[in-house]
Amino acid sequence: MAIQWFPGHMTSARRKAGETMEFTDVVVEVLDARAPEASCNPMIRELREHRRRPCLKILNKIDLADPVVTQAWLDYYNKQDDVKAVALCCKSASDAARVPKLCQPLAPHRNTTHKPLRMMIMGIPNVGKSTLMNMLLKRKVANVGDEPAVTKSQQNHKINDRMTLTDSPGLMWPKIEHEEDGYMLAAIHAIGRNAVFDDEIATFLASRLLEDYPEQLAERYKLTLAGMDDVGVLEAIAKKRGCLLKGRGGELDLDKAAMILLTEFRSGKLGRISLESPDSRAKLLDMKQQQAMDEDNASS
Ligand code: G4P
Repeated sequence: MAIQWFPGHMTSARRKAGETMEFTDVVVEVLDARAPEASCNPMIRELREHRRRPCLKILNKIDLADPVVTQAWLDYYNKQDDVKAVALCCKSASDAARVPKLCQPLAPHRNTTHKPLRMMIMGIPNVGKSTLMNMLLKRKVANVGDEPAVTKSQQNHKINDRMTLTDSPGLMWPKIEHEEDGYMLAAIHAIGRNAVFDDEIATFLASRLLEDYPEQLAERYKLTLAGMDDVGVLEAIAKKRGCLLKGRGGELDLDKAAMILLTEFRSGKLGRISLESPDSRAKLLDMKQQQAMDEDNASS
């Protein structure tokens, strides 16, 4: 499944973000802690590296992510040059309030009324940028919504005499390279409903849960998982929750079961779950590299 998700307004948003980067000291990149690399837009890295801007990476929504995996990601990112990584729940005022102090050491020369620290919040849709912005400014300046791509234009705000904050709309990139990333983004609801089919995402999610979080899956739906595959999980959820197609003689409504699994994962009802770790990411990239080499060899 190739996922293409690049609404028209994102082309102008990308151009504008590139222009604003010139007048930015620190990029505050908001990622989803459940899938930090899948939710890391390569375009943002290009824009910031082009201007050599340091970055505070926020692994947001830690209340929904596996704490052990989140720590592994922090260790991974904190080894990178010009990067400071922190795990937060931006819905918490005290967590959000840590952000300016974490940014300051990344641009120590900017801390006066003449040279205020200029931060720009960036990230893909639905990772929590507006939530963070509203918390930092202690008022509602951006619409928060679980439907992707709610913030559509760039806004600049003064936090105090020595700090400013620019909000930018959720930025996606034109083509998601790895199919698995598309599924993870859809599972965390960073890409819109029309971009992918819920049953495919739910099947992907079921297979991840079977592999990495079988106990949580079994506990939530009271399932015995032995010998069960991803589609089997959806069938079992449909049976447990009484999802039947009307007038079809008891046929299971797998779409409804898919929505139940996705909604309960997204809201944290299944527990704290991460869809990728630094190790699984490294394996994925190795596999993709091997596939590309095999394809090259086959065609030569
Ligand atoms: P965006 O600007 O990056 O597009 O994201 P936005 O702030 O609109 O947040 C998208 C959804 O993520 C919102 O959910 C928001 O409340 C939720 N969110 C943001 N930060 C966190 C966090 O740290 N933890 C959790 N669990 N959720 C977070 P929503 O369903 O629209 O709103 P609500 O019902 O949660 O208020």
